[in-house]
Amino acid sequence: MNTPEGAEPFDFDGDYGGDYEYIARTVIPGYRSSFRQALALLAGRVGPSPRVLVVGAGTGIELVTFKTAEPGWRLTGVDPSRQMIEIARRRMREAGVGDGARLVHGHVSDLDEDGFAAATCFNVMHFLPDDGAKQSLLHDIARRLAPGAPFLLFELHGDRSSPRFDELFAAWSRYWKIHGMGEAERAAFRARIDEGIHWASEARILQLLAEAGFEDAWRYYRALLYGGWISRRALQPLRSSSGK
Ligand SMILES: C[S@@+](CC[C@H](N)C(=O)[O-])C[C@H]1O[C@@H](n2cnc3c(N)ncnc32)[C@H](O)[C@@H]1O
Repeated sequence: MNTPEGAEPFDFDGDYGGDYEYIARTVIPGYRSSFRQALALLAGRVGPSPRVLVVGAGTGIELVTFKTAEPGWRLTGVDPSRQMIEIARRRMREAGVGDGARLVHGHVSDLDEDGFAAATCFNVMHFLPDDGAKQSLLHDIARRLAPGAPFLLFELHGDRSSPRFDELFAAWSRYWKIHGMGEAERAAFRARIDEGIHWASEARILQLLAEAGFEDAWRYYRALLYGGWISRRALQPLRSSSGK
């Protein structure tokens, strides 16, 4: 089964966005826990009422996790999908933290604030091609952070030329089945992955982070093909971006 011709493989303003959280819980090992891990890591590096930037806020699960545990955190969530912003807004209201975040419909480059004390970018960068787009996103995030501010990146990764990649991919596909995804759904999801994920190896991710102005990056998490990295914005001024 293929993605219908002309359709985005991952359309967050369409059906995929509406079903996103069900799919995420099914295919991402440790999905819910990943936000609590982020909270635990960031809480050790920020002050009592930091301004925290959540890039690709999605359905708002991260914003709700942070705000519920740390009411003093001042959150800004940014997302180019109107549907996801609306879902996040509703979810925050339902969780009783309706005023807990500024939600911005757009890209990081559209933000009118900088000097954030921390940022996260979960399950976003793997959708962007490595033609300058991944680099631009990281650079835009770095420019919005205060020097030394922590940054957490979480995403699919892997070196497709390595035999280990094939083994991990096969195991990941079995994980979908173990988590209850039916055969047709697995075939449709596989087609989306083949078309819409732009894989980068860990070495490339570390290089992209360094080039964008992040330092001291290291992986704090790995499960199958998912990885989480913590780094910090460099203390020295950033070089200007050659991307968009
Ligand atoms: C897979 S969801 C992840 C949502 C949330 N971070 C999570 O892990 O549950 C990806 C989100 O990133 C958003 N997105 C796509 N391209 C983006 C970009 N260039 N900058 C910021 N967000 C982007 C999508 O609209 C979508 O809401």
